[in-house]
Amino acid sequence: MNLKGRSFLTLKDYSKEEIEYLLNLAAKLKKNKKNGILGRSLKGKNIALIFEKPSTRTRSAFTIGCIDEGGHPEYLGKDDIQLGDKESIEDTARVLGRMFDGIEFRGFVHESAEKLAEYSGVPVWNGLTDNYHPTQILADFLTIKEHFGKLEGLKLVYAGDGRNNMANSLLIGSAKMGINITILSPKTLWPDQELITLCNEYADVSGGQIKLTDNINGVAGADVIYTDVWCSMGEEDLVAERIKMLAPYQVNDDMLAMTGKAHTIVLHCLPAVKGNEITYDVFEKFAEPIFDQAENRMHTIKAIMVATLGDE
Ligand code: CP
Repeated sequence: MNLKGRSFLTLKDYSKEEIEYLLNLAAKLKKNKKNGILGRSLKGKNIALIFEKPSTRTRSAFTIGCIDEGGHPEYLGKDDIQLGDKESIEDTARVLGRMFDGIEFRGFVHESAEKLAEYSGVPVWNGLTDNYHPTQILADFLTIKEHFGKLEGLKLVYAGDGRNNMANSLLIGSAKMGINITILSPKTLWPDQELITLCNEYADVSGGQIKLTDNINGVAGADVIYTDVWCSMGEEDLVAERIKMLAPYQVNDDMLAMTGKAHTIVLHCLPAVKGNEITYDVFEKFAEPIFDQAENRMHTIKAIMVATLGDE
């Protein structure tokens, strides 16, 4: 599998086989690191880490993943560079593309990531935009595979804000990989119809199923319940409205009992607002897979950099 030179902006751009390749590479890199073996795949490579929004996991994962493979990461925060303020994204991209070998971008507008990729001429990796969070999905899927030994045929229920970047990306990834995904959310927070139509096409190929429901009974049979904060970054003024709207979709013991399965796990991309989208008790009960997920950000992000930029 040759992914050299490719950007990683959304999972729409990657086939099932390519996603499987990245997951297998991440598993290999994880095993190597646990055995004290680090690579030199990014030796001599300089990697820009652009963050318009704060981050713990994504920033740390790109930094450590890059250093583990011999590369040099450079953090460029929103107040450090002129991106989109004094200097256009196109010009910034052309400058960075002449100095750096790869660029991570976390920001608001997805088109900014697309422009960076178009104008820089180097791989650009999406560390989260308002629409998509594809690197998170690889960590989620690696965690699910480690736990269940497979992805295909599992039922994943995403409970909460059904049209945020996590719901969108889980929908795309699940549809591509043959996971049966249910978006459990009030109708006003369902994903865009255009994305649903596209993902149904992916699911027709993979054999996965997509369901959207505002009925809490939709959690029945879930192998994985996934949730995320009820207000994404930039939506802080909507907190009161969202708490009222999403309270029936809180991941709690009652919801877990409704799966009818003893082996159901709960995942959360973090950071969590415990007491809102998930109770303290349920969070702590599933702390092991949730923090496996957080650790797997590093192994999967490393795999993306190695696959698209590294010298193997
Ligand atoms: N899940 C996630 O993206 O975490 P950070 O915001 O800390 O990077």
